[in-house]
Amino acid sequence: MLPACYNSDVARVLMVSPEAAPLAKTGGLADVVGALPTALGAYGDEVAVVMPRYAGIDLKGARRVYDSLPVYLGRARFDTAIYQAAEAFPFYLVDCPPLYDRKGLYGESGVDYPDNHIRFAVFARAALGVARFLFRTDILHCHDWQSALVPVYLKTMLASDPTFLGVKTLFTIHNLGYQGLFPKTALAEVALNASVYRPDGMEFFGKVSYIKGGIAFADGLSTVSPTYAREIQTPEYGFGLDGVLRARTAVLEGILNGVDYRDWNPETDRFLPTPYSAGDLGGKRICKRELLREFGLPEAAMERPLIGMVSRLTSQKGADILVEAVDGIVAEDVYLVALGSGEPRYEESFRSMAARYPDRIAVRIGYDNPLAHRVEAGADMFLMPSRYEPCGLNQIYSLGYGTVPVVRATGGLDDTIEEGIGFKFAEYSGAALLEAVRSAVRAFADGDAWRETMRRGMAKDFSWKKSAGAYSALYQRLAGRR
Ligand code: ADP
Ligand code: GLC
Repeated sequence: MLPACYNSDVARVLMVSPEAAPLAKTGGLADVVGALPTALGAYGDEVAVVMPRYAGIDLKGARRVYDSLPVYLGRARFDTAIYQAAEAFPFYLVDCPPLYDRKGLYGESGVDYPDNHIRFAVFARAALGVARFLFRTDILHCHDWQSALVPVYLKTMLASDPTFLGVKTLFTIHNLGYQGLFPKTALAEVALNASVYRPDGMEFFGKVSYIKGGIAFADGLSTVSPTYAREIQTPEYGFGLDGVLRARTAVLEGILNGVDYRDWNPETDRFLPTPYSAGDLGGKRICKRELLREFGLPEAAMERPLIGMVSRLTSQKGADILVEAVDGIVAEDVYLVALGSGEPRYEESFRSMAARYPDRIAVRIGYDNPLAHRVEAGADMFLMPSRYEPCGLNQIYSLGYGTVPVVRATGGLDDTIEEGIGFKFAEYSGAALLEAVRSAVRAFADGDAWRETMRRGMAKDFSWKKSAGAYSALYQRLAGRR
């Protein structure tokens, strides 16, 4: 019998990601990379993660496992060291203080760092160093544009390197709206051959596109819901990349994200004033009362629908149609609490809605994870009017908290919310959004039926098990074993 390490059904996978919960997070990508490795363990896959060591990450408790891993980009030399964090699975951190020891992950005050092309080229090369020296892999699973140079280097500079013979890459697109676009001169600065600058390579309207590199050079492609996988192949949702995605449709798959119920479960959530469950919804009223108090809204809201929102405030998330609909929404005698941060113009829209209706709408601008949990628990409805949504996690969290989602039918929102557990609208307009809110408000009036809707949502199971199984099968196919 062959030893276990020769078990060909088990893949060794190195996830290359710019963020992972709980160490560094700006959005749902971190939740995904934080949870997927453990879920894959159930299928026998051996998974490690590699991420930059940002300023916020405390190295106490981490081990320095590789002292000196220099990365050369042409003549420029970047000295990196690799730490291994104390996590349940191998979690490698690329330390290079001049590049990553900064206030933000990708930029500050809404402005990207001007050397992001270098920062994430060095990251890609150091990740390949981890695969070479520390964690031999079958599959390099790369997430978003910040990791997209891994397949590009593998297929160009390292094409004949025996270490990587047979190693396959999977590139997962969490959001096509973020592409990593740089001037053409960036190519030489990151030591990439000029031959990749072509329309079916990394060239994009006169610029260098990192995400296009991932799309063109990875062996397999995936995104985070089946509907988004279809949408990004259309001009409406393709951000100019629908053509190259259509050209690779045979290797593009949509795998829905799951939920880490260890973090998002009203029965065990340590951030709530009191726990509750589908069997005993009493605690949810206490959560609502406390939330109203926390946001300074009147007690009268206890008997009316309270809408919650937690969101990055960017053009993706639908603030413009909410502004269009807000007068009509307030006229329904409802209340709104919103937590979010992002682009100043959208932060301003939320502030001015609250200023206009101070006893109806309350807004917190900022990033606050405990408060995000309390909004999920205390609200009656959860609003996500996204222009596009690759998967979306908050609507799935809402289901588990008995908070009925009202969503635009796009991407993962369309795939996760069906009639009977939430409310959907199709057209991207304030009028369609208002109509959906009105339907939800009408349904709220029948308390028994509403509680049934809540319970149906709470009974849904979006745990990672199923999605991890789909990734595991995909790794096997990529490795040519099935
Ligand atoms: P996206 O990744 O596009 O931001 P998702 O719905 O996939 O959207 O995931 C968003 C994640 O970020 C969720 O875990 C959500 O709770 C969290 N989040 C977003 N904005 C905030 C905020 N202002 N404060 C706390 N958590 C937030
Ligand atoms: C992105 C998307 C979001 C998705 C998340 C995790 O940030 O905007 O819809 O849920 O990635 O895949």
